[in-house]
Amino acid sequence: MLEKVRIIEIPKITDPDGRGSLSVLEKNILPYSIKRVYYLYDVPSNSTRGGHAHKELQQCLIALSGSFIVVLDDGKERIEILLNRPDKGLLIPSGVWRELIEFSAGAVCLSLVSAEYDEDDYIREYEDFITFKKK
Ligand code: TYD
Repeated sequence: MLEKVRIIEIPKITDPDGRGSLSVLEKNILPYSIKRVYYLYDVPSNSTRGGHAHKELQQCLIALSGSFIVVLDDGKERIEILLNRPDKGLLIPSGVWRELIEFSAGAVCLSLVSAEYDEDDYIREYEDFITFKKK
């Protein structure tokens, strides 16, 4: 399952006159159509966000500002990915446990999501996640 996790290179347009950068996600860059956008900010550095998996939902996380670490777990393997660039997206497929830790000051995590909010799609207990993966 973690082999489906990937970093998406988001096209970046650097202004030739030194006016900064612009990144754009156009329709085919993600393997789903975006149904919802949300973002995390003002996260204390010692806080953990996430701490759940989704049955169906897929999402792409982007560190719009600052940095944070995404811990991903498929029930067999656990990896950590540092996100610290607004032109890199982390694609998380369904059925992956995630925790977001070590937010830097001012970090903003943008989340581009494949589905509308549905609490029934969440698995919020790690033990339930392991049971779900064994089905
Ligand atoms: P949650 O997904 O648990 O946050 P995180 O995993 O990032 O720590 O959501 C936190 C709260 O916000 C929870 O009460 C559900 C609510 N929420 C919505 O109402 N709509 C949304 O789109 C999201 C993502 C969360």
